[in-house]
Amino acid sequence: MAQRVRKAIFPVGGLGTRFLPATKAMPKEMLPIVDKPLIQYAVEEAAAAGIEEFIFVTGRNKHAIEDHFDRSFELEANLEQRGQGELLAAIRDCVPSDTRLAYTRQGQALGLGHAVWCARGLVGDEPFAVLLADDLIQSETPCLKQMIEAHAPLGGNLVATMEVARAHTPNYGVIAPGATRDRLIEVKGLVEKPKPDLAPSNLAVIGRYILQPEVFSHLDRQQVGAGGEIQLTDALASLIGAQPFYALRFAGRRFDCGSKIGFLEANLAFALERADLGTEFRRLLRQYADAGAR
Ligand code: G1P
Repeated sequence: MAQRVRKAIFPVGGLGTRFLPATKAMPKEMLPIVDKPLIQYAVEEAAAAGIEEFIFVTGRNKHAIEDHFDRSFELEANLEQRGQGELLAAIRDCVPSDTRLAYTRQGQALGLGHAVWCARGLVGDEPFAVLLADDLIQSETPCLKQMIEAHAPLGGNLVATMEVARAHTPNYGVIAPGATRDRLIEVKGLVEKPKPDLAPSNLAVIGRYILQPEVFSHLDRQQVGAGGEIQLTDALASLIGAQPFYALRFAGRRFDCGSKIGFLEANLAFALERADLGTEFRRLLRQYADAGAR
């Protein structure tokens, strides 16, 4: 059995330029899907997978994230006074009480690999998860939980994967697949953002990883890869062969909330699932569809 995964890294230092001006003074991870910030979905997913220590790699303009996961006594007292118990629970239960939060800062936005490397001191010598809040996954069993269950008998490294259109491989880390068993695919190679004609497959890495601490010694070299950034994918590629390396085709629907269309679609999908909004929202959608058809 693999060593238990207790820690998760949330790289939240990105600039969020695609959502300007909304993200001028606010972290993109605080953009809400319906009424919950993206980062909270990621934190809840990790908590549901048994993660106990949450490590945020932040940057400038990210204080709102720290405040969000902190207690807000004034707000709590106010809601209590007004008898708004449900809202009170919603803001108190942002983070499970028996978890630990840590923040470290990525001074410069040098890439995902660099962001993960910034957390090396807080992770130490044990396996850990990485969750990218931009990748929002709607599923019955939380994606990271599916991965932890798949990882337990295997050990080594595991990434989440899904098929994408060939034309989209330049947006992703792409897997060279080996043997496949049910949802598990052996990873024989990894390439960051390949052109469609050079991509080894159309299996993209989605922002969920379970990694071994050895990856840090590769990241120590600070090698620059695709787009002039220090890429996590390159460090992972160097572990292939030395450690077990698999990809899990997770069950669920992924929304690319780093893009406007993906973000809008996520709002749609999550609103439709809500008991308090679904019916009214469906009615509105029909109204807009009818108006569009006229
Ligand atoms: C990052 C990773 C990439 C991965 C993607 C998933 O890219 O570098 O390998 O496929 O996340 O969303 P980014 O979206 O930061 O460009």
